[in-house]
Amino acid sequence: MPDRDLRKWMAQLEAEGDLKRVRAKVDWDDEISQIIRKVYVKEGPALLFENIKGHEKTWSKKLFTNGLGTRARVNVMLGLPRDTSPLETVKTIRERMKKPLKTVKVKTGPVKENIIKGKDVDLFQIPVPKWHPLDNGRYINTFNATVTRDPDTGQNNAGVYRGTILSKNKIGVLLMPMKDWGITYTKYKEMGKPMPVAFVYGYDPTLIVVAGSPVIGPEYELAGALRQEPVELVKCETSDIEVPAAAEIVVEGFMSPDPSTYEIEGPFGEGSGYYGEARKRPVVEITCITHRNDPIYRGSLVGTKEGITEIRSSVSTMMSVVLWNILEAAEIPGIIDVASGPITAVKIHKTYQGQPRQIAAAMWGSKFAGHPFNIIIVVEEDVDIRNPNALFGAMHSRVNFNRDLVIYPLYMGSPIDVSLPYDARAELEYGAAIASKLLIDATIDWEMHPPRAEWGNQRFPPNCHYSRPETEKLVEKRWREYDL
Ligand SMILES: Cc1cc2nc3c(=O)[nH]c(=O)nc-3n(C[C@H](O)[C@H](O)[C@H](O)COP(=O)(O)O)c2cc1C
Repeated sequence: MPDRDLRKWMAQLEAEGDLKRVRAKVDWDDEISQIIRKVYVKEGPALLFENIKGHEKTWSKKLFTNGLGTRARVNVMLGLPRDTSPLETVKTIRERMKKPLKTVKVKTGPVKENIIKGKDVDLFQIPVPKWHPLDNGRYINTFNATVTRDPDTGQNNAGVYRGTILSKNKIGVLLMPMKDWGITYTKYKEMGKPMPVAFVYGYDPTLIVVAGSPVIGPEYELAGALRQEPVELVKCETSDIEVPAAAEIVVEGFMSPDPSTYEIEGPFGEGSGYYGEARKRPVVEITCITHRNDPIYRGSLVGTKEGITEIRSSVSTMMSVVLWNILEAAEIPGIIDVASGPITAVKIHKTYQGQPRQIAAAMWGSKFAGHPFNIIIVVEEDVDIRNPNALFGAMHSRVNFNRDLVIYPLYMGSPIDVSLPYDARAELEYGAAIASKLLIDATIDWEMHPPRAEWGNQRFPPNCHYSRPETEKLVEKRWREYDL
């Protein structure tokens, strides 16, 4: 059965001229990430670093990154034409997610070609760059799936959660108790048992996109749905967790329930563009590494000045899907489009006055509430939600600040949101950060603006964007004459 793995994905990009091999010798400290920064800004190709200083003889020598750095590559991942519009991409993913694909269980696979256990475990063999100068070490977990298994149901959960190499057999992580693996960790803590964890590096890109967003449902089956091909799973060596059989590297370990084992994790250059601070956080002690021959490590540069990263092009597309699904599950009518971003925009056909507030309440009542996106704007069908100027225009002309700004003290947000006070970001203490949310209702207010006969029974005066149709035609016809 074909199982698209990292190598097949890379081969596809290379065949389409969208992958560049970096053969020059590069330093894993800073130099690699500075190259990626520059490539991000010009929306450049996926990168395979093949010659990393100090990794001439380690068992893992290569780093693959920026595989999802453009919207075009996200479309390629889905088998869509490269120029498919954002709305079409979102709609395609929504359709496919309706049919999760059952996984296929296999006895073994390429990831079992090499098995390293006990004192031979050495995470420094993997070429994990120092992504930002002040990072607390090498952040190995930036764009990989972290898999845990619910002790009650046996269900696998995959998420993307940052983690740094603390020593050759320890990874320190940022775990929010409200996230899926946090809920599982609480169950293990209550049983007084360590939680098994598996970190999966290098596989089909759909897995990361699904794992990195708060999907409702099983991630492996949803990744299968996105790529329209089931994910093949194999059991870990030291736990019952299942991982993709064709992954490049799987790192297995256990997280102690005992807070006295916690170690300093952070600072780390975060998606906010700032360093997330150091705190004592849970540690995964590594028991085993399985890997393919000549395995390729997969990582990603997260925080950048321009906000351009492969996470933005890929995971934010998926976030739009997740939010739209939440609104659909809440049976809120009239949703035309959803665009997630630092400000999450929803375009609706308004059919009742309370619709925007109901939309915000549904989103704030979902898993999305633990994310750093704290502002929702709701607009009507005449506003292009992917154009910031159009959104500013809607805020300017539709928002009555007395009524249309709703601040909700939800007390849920993300610890990477630096606008919050330091103490409010203590995720282990509060389960999430203590954050408020803002709704900007930029739809026409029905109470303030009843229909008026002189405006043809519309609620707003006519807009003045157009000439008379005959004048438009005339100008079109004479355009060359004007020599403009
Ligand atoms: C690059 C990247 C890094 C992330 N790092 C973290 C993290 O360190 N901790 C965290 O709780 N969520 C992090 N997230 C968000 C989670 O992956 C996301 O909430 C996902 O839905 C998993 O949540 P779940 O466990 O509720 O399904 C990150 C997402 C991305 C894309």
